[in-house]
Amino acid sequence: MIARPQSDPVKVAMPPKPLGLWATAMTVRRNVLEVIPAAAIREPIISGTSGLRWHMVMDPAALRHILKDRVEDYPKSINTRLILSPAIGDSLLMAEGAHWRWQRRAAAPAFAQRHVEALGPLMTAAAEASCRRLEAAQGPVNLVEETVAATFEVISHVTFSGGGMFDPGAVHQALDAYIAKTAKLSLMDVMGLPAWLPRPGRLFSGPGLRRMKTMADQVITSRPQAARQQPPDFLDLLLDAQDPETGRAMTGNELRDNLLTFILAGHETTALALAWALYLCAFDPFVQDRAADEARVALGGRAATAADLGALPQTMRILNEALRLYPPAAFLSRTARTFDTLCGREIRPGDTVMLPIYALHRHHLLWERPDAFDPNRFVTTPERYAFLPFGAGPRICFGASFALQEAVIILSTLLARFRFDPVPGREPQPRMILTLRPHGGVWLTVRSRD
Ligand code: HEM
Repeated sequence: MIARPQSDPVKVAMPPKPLGLWATAMTVRRNVLEVIPAAAIREPIISGTSGLRWHMVMDPAALRHILKDRVEDYPKSINTRLILSPAIGDSLLMAEGAHWRWQRRAAAPAFAQRHVEALGPLMTAAAEASCRRLEAAQGPVNLVEETVAATFEVISHVTFSGGGMFDPGAVHQALDAYIAKTAKLSLMDVMGLPAWLPRPGRLFSGPGLRRMKTMADQVITSRPQAARQQPPDFLDLLLDAQDPETGRAMTGNELRDNLLTFILAGHETTALALAWALYLCAFDPFVQDRAADEARVALGGRAATAADLGALPQTMRILNEALRLYPPAAFLSRTARTFDTLCGREIRPGDTVMLPIYALHRHHLLWERPDAFDPNRFVTTPERYAFLPFGAGPRICFGASFALQEAVIILSTLLARFRFDPVPGREPQPRMILTLRPHGGVWLTVRSRD
């Protein structure tokens, strides 16, 4: 009989009361999530006026209002734009209004279910490569490095496949360095903290970022003459895209910014979901063994494919529970454009409206034993606007089905072949730097199940 854990998996220490200006500035440098007051997991809305007026919204009906019914009145916050625009311009992730609409329509074929399924073999190959690396590894392994390697292999193939001109490692390093330098300023600006408070380097645009853009430009300019890929990669699909209203195609810069967006938005988020899922499986060996049994029956020794998804409900539930407890996009923010009312509170134009997804997913009015790891809560579908790992409404994550397909393929293949156990004294700490990362890594002992 396997012992079930008596405690909850790791969580963020929330301050009992909202922090003052200076404490917020200092805390944000370490972990954006540590400024969310404990009341955020019990109240529908919290407001403050440190500099700018701001609100944190955790009420499902109000979240639906912001993300769906009145989406035009709540554009992405100026702060998000400040952080990301130097790297990815006015791409799909950042654009608003007509410019966003046409890019979303143009990129739709790349994310259509049929195309995502056609990319399945690349994901299966990445799962197999991951197994080979883990078989060769001795002693404890940092699974974050492993899952980042696996998802990066997939995203670099589906964005700029072939050609040999593109160095995925250099792009990965450039994005990582850029995010580390810029993202920590985020909440300081969101909350309108005064300019004299010390901020980490802003609008950093180092040689790594320039090199990354040049490399992407070279692949794009050489592609029309080069052979198209089979199945078509995202670059092929965007090159063929036309605005149905004006007939215009994407410019070189638009192509580059969107492809870099897919890399930025797509690989680390999925890698984190996988790494947290493996941490949780090691935390509860009973859950891990049930999922491993399911995967071994469904796969019979081979790696998973897109066609296996329906036979792997346990793996899917573990992933959903990992996305609930550690949502990679743990904190979204918007700027109100007009007067409005949310949960009875007045919203004024210019107010910052924060969507602390981390707190929503642990809210005591919405979830039973919110801090516990229990994949079975996903046997039934949760309330739509209580579970938002991919956002919602017209701006919902474009890559959600791509990410889930990839994550189920990789996780089920790994669980069928290996057993993952915690390394004592090396628990990860959830910290947010643009995404919710396991600080210290996810160190696990990996053993073959055969
Ligand atoms: C587990 C993995 C992922 C998570 C948790 C995630 C999360 C999110 C969230 C929360 C948003 C909405 C942001 C907002 O409303 O402010 C978003 C948007 C987006 N995501 Fe993802 N994402 C994941 C994987 C991917 C992948 C694999 C891709 C592409 C290959 C991708 C591409 C995008 C794009 C293009 C948008 C912008 C959509 C728009 O504004 O129209 N994401 N993602």
